[in-house]
Amino acid sequence: MLSRRDFLATGATAAAGLALGPDSVSGVPAPVAHLRARPLARPVVVASSNGLRGVKVAYDQIVAGTDTLDAIIAGVNIQELDPEDQSVGLGGLPNEDGVVQLDASCMHGPTKRAGAVGCLEDIATPSLVAKAIMDYTDHIMLVGADARRFAIRMGFTPQNLLTEKSRQDWLRWKSRLNPNDFWLDHDDDVRIRFSTGTINMNAVNANGDLSSVTTTSGMAWKVPGRVGDSPIIGAGQYCDNAVGAAGSTGRGESNIMTCGAFLCVEFMRQGLSPEQAVLRTMERVVATTQSKLMGPNGRPHVDLQFYAVSRDGRFAGGSLYEGPGYAVCDDQGPRVAPCVYLFKASERPRRG
Ligand code: GLY
Repeated sequence: MLSRRDFLATGATAAAGLALGPDSVSGVPAPVAHLRARPLARPVVVASSNGLRGVKVAYDQIVAGTDTLDAIIAGVNIQELDPEDQSVGLGGLPNEDGVVQLDASCMHGPTKRAGAVGCLEDIATPSLVAKAIMDYTDHIMLVGADARRFAIRMGFTPQNLLTEKSRQDWLRWKSRLNPNDFWLDHDDDVRIRFSTGTINMNAVNANGDLSSVTTTSGMAWKVPGRVGDSPIIGAGQYCDNAVGAAGSTGRGESNIMTCGAFLCVEFMRQGLSPEQAVLRTMERVVATTQSKLMGPNGRPHVDLQFYAVSRDGRFAGGSLYEGPGYAVCDDQGPRVAPCVYLFKASERPRRG
């Protein structure tokens, strides 16, 4: 007689591609058989398109033997430290008070650990602070002033993250808020950014070990104290070493409502490809979008993207609307690939 465990390990089950029931010992849903049957992967790093430089750095480190999480954090550090990227780290667009507040989280598949930081001020690399929380505490998330104090105790150097460019954008936004206040409008035609930019990066190495990280300055001009999806494990990013990793950029509130990164990994656990998983996740986002965010044509006003990599090295990027690409690096080199999408750009509703 084969035990249930022996039976699950047989190639017959793998060939059938059957989804397995909960693990009899832990009660945790087991990965589908075809994922268990593939121990080795094709190394690949995927990210939001602003991670094009970072995916190359991370990929090169991974093939040289660096741990996947260390490699992708080195990848996102490039954007965090780049004052020209106004969606993350140094130079990120500030909250409505003109203060830069950062969020980040990470997961390390092989050791099943996670770290996160929310509403962090004055530290340019929240991804590394999230990892320090993971490495040096038995907690997962620290926030606000105490997260800053923790970071400084861990050796991070505080600095002013508000660049002159971002301060000027904030001043323009502020001066145009109300025609009856005492701020003079600037009659220039500089477009005021309203960013929900972020960088998410996910990777798998040749052993099938996975990691994920997401870091952001969050929504531009947000209410002070607002925390988005990026530091929420299961929303901003998620990683299960038995299945895959996924993460998101775009309007965080919509993603939090869907637990999008977790859902994407769960879809892959059920046997969907990364491409199918990001599409199904976005369908769920649309289904959970409140009516005030929907246009008359039943399409959301929201921008949201997901990026996913499976344990065997398949990958995809997906966007609600046609247009954005995503960054990928594998043995073909770094490039921006087109996202799969739910809706054509022409279907995007106009704001009334
Ligand atoms: N996805 C970034 C944010 O909403 O904060």
